[in-house]
Order: sequence, then structure tokens, then C-alpha cells
Amino acid sequence: MKLDEIIKNRYSVRKFASKAVKKEDILACLEAARLAPSACNSQPTHFYILQNDVKNNFADNVFTKLYRPCKFFKNAPVLVALAVDKGANTAVKAGQRITGRPFYMTDQAIAGEHFVLKATELGLGTCWVGWFDSKKAAEFLKLKDTMEVHNLLALGYSEAENTPRPKINRKKLEEISTFLG
Ligand SMILES: Cc1cc2nc3c(=O)[nH]c(=O)nc-3n(C[C@H](O)[C@H](O)[C@H](O)COP(=O)(O)O)c2cc1C
Repeated sequence: MKLDEIIKNRYSVRKFASKAVKKEDILACLEAARLAPSACNSQPTHFYILQNDVKNNFADNVFTKLYRPCKFFKNAPVLVALAVDKGANTAVKAGQRITGRPFYMTDQAIAGEHFVLKATELGLGTCWVGWFDSKKAAEFLKLKDTMEVHNLLALGYSEAENTPRPKINRKKLEEISTFLG
């Protein structure tokens, strides 16, 4: 698949088949994520691959109360927790202090999207998940103080395998871009 095709094929999958995801495919997605750029090459993202009972327990912990509407993601065969280290690198920490911008957030998003695009190429469905209790996620994973989980990825085969992606609803190019000069 060419990159254009991968980008157009990707969509948020929320209903998954029970078919297991091959470990070699997960490793290929992780390799794509590993090659992602990051501020000062600090590589602050750690991918927790949660499956089976651990995944179910994790989902029971993080999709509670206000976050319960996203409990259906428990049905994904794999949940990936993107844990990011806010203090992975001294240069980045200094840069973040000076600019006031959290580079680690950009880093984890790029690495996550590399993972997602590789998964799409392999015929796997994904969904970014932001609606979960991140404090509970950090507790569950026993993360050190400098680490946080800002996003999860649901991963598996779409229940609607071989059906085309839903209609893409996006702003027009003119609305998202401005050429100057
Ligand atoms: C950072 C982020 C967080 C998201 N969180 C959720 C979520 O908690 N629950 C959900 O169902 N979809 C979530 N989504 C999926 C978006 O709703 C989806 O990407 C958007 O509607 C565009 O649809 P598409 O991905 O099918 O193209 C999230 C997407 C991103 C990028």
C-alpha cells in the first residue's frame, strides 16, 4: 500500500472482531513507532501492550465513572497505553521550561500515529482513545512520577473487515491552510 492509500484507509475502528492480533504485527507497529522523530531525539514514549486479562483489568480501571462511555474499548483484543516521560532528557526539559511547550506531547502523538499507520498497512483497525482516567492508568501500570498516559490506542481487526472506510468528514484545504509570501 502506498502512503496515500494507508492514510485514506485509516479510520477509527470501534467494533472489533475477536480474531487475535499476531505478535509479529504488533512488533512491526512498534518498530514504526520506534523510528518516529522526537524533540532532541529524547524518545520519551513507552508502549504498554495490554492483552487478555491484563487488558480487561486495565479497561475496568480506566473506563469508570465519567469515562464509562468508552468502556466498549474493552472489546478490542489489544489496548496500547502510550506512557510518556515528561523528563526523559535534560535538553528537552530545559527547552520545555523556556518555551513553555510540552514537547513530549508532540513526541508521543507522532510515535502513536506511526504505530497507527503501520497497523493500517497491515490491515489492522485502530482508534485513538483520550477519554479514560489517566491517573488510574498510571497507577495500574505503576509508572514513575515523571510518566503519564495521555492516550490509548485500541487495536484489532475491524468487525466490518473488507467494508470500505466510512465517509471522510473533514474541513476543506482552504480552511486548514494559509499560504503566505
Ligand atoms: C487524541 C485523540 C483522542 C481520541 N479519543 C477518542 C475517544 O476517547 N473515544 C472515541 O470513540 N474516539 C476517540 N478519538 C477518535 C476521533 O473521534 C476520530 O479520530 C475522529 O472523529 C475522526 O474520525 P476518523 O478517525 O474515523 O477519521 C480520538 C482521536 C484522537 C486523535
